[in-house]
Amino acid sequence: MSITDVPVIAIDGPTASGKGTVAHGVAQALGWHVLDSGALYRLTALASFLQKIPLDDEPALAQAARNLDVRFAAGEIFLEGQEVSAAIRQEEVGNRASRVAALPAVRQALLARQRAFRLAPGLVADGRDMGTVVFPDARLKVFLDAAVQARAQRRCKQLIEKGISANLDDLLRDMRERDARDASRSVAPLVPAQDATVLDSSDLSAEQTVQAILDLWDKVLRDNPRP
Ligand code: DC
Repeated sequence: MSITDVPVIAIDGPTASGKGTVAHGVAQALGWHVLDSGALYRLTALASFLQKIPLDDEPALAQAARNLDVRFAAGEIFLEGQEVSAAIRQEEVGNRASRVAALPAVRQALLARQRAFRLAPGLVADGRDMGTVVFPDARLKVFLDAAVQARAQRRCKQLIEKGISANLDDLLRDMRERDARDASRSVAPLVPAQDATVLDSSDLSAEQTVQAILDLWDKVLRDNPRP
């Protein structure tokens, strides 16, 4: 079995569209691996911040991305041996990640690392360019969208549940800025792949969204069975 025979479901979409929860739910239901590609950009942001690399030093940021010493283990993420799962979810890290992610050399540096997650029996890959750049041959591409208000409310609730203070208006403003930056950058902008199914989750629960994607996957298997 060659690596390109390992099926990929790509789930792309804007920040706080619920991709992470949904990707994990789909992966769990199918018994597949999961790639949280946003975590790699967040880790690059955190590592480069700790190394005091300025945001305009693209070669040094790409080097930091290439050299990331990271380990994903049972829901926890380690950077150079330190547990950083909560640290990388902070809004400041997300905002820096969005800036770092606009740099072509950084994206190139993370490409092979992302593709290495493609392991049997299958991969659910969550991000912005999974279906367009990283896994253009994904057998199912979903673009998970939700209204910005719904996304800001979800993010606000998540942060408060984690004991992190949050303000809805600030989140809405940051989210609009990030959406605009992610959608307008010259490399791998946030756009649905031509062959993606757009799914609006504004009025769906996480469970309903997972089920909708599993139904789409069943349809792929029915319409295009492979040995
Ligand atoms: O999904 P997230 O919020 O954890 O992603 C953090 C940032 O990383 C986001 O602002 C855009 C960037 N990103 C990207 O450019 N490409 C990806 N495949 C995933 C994330």
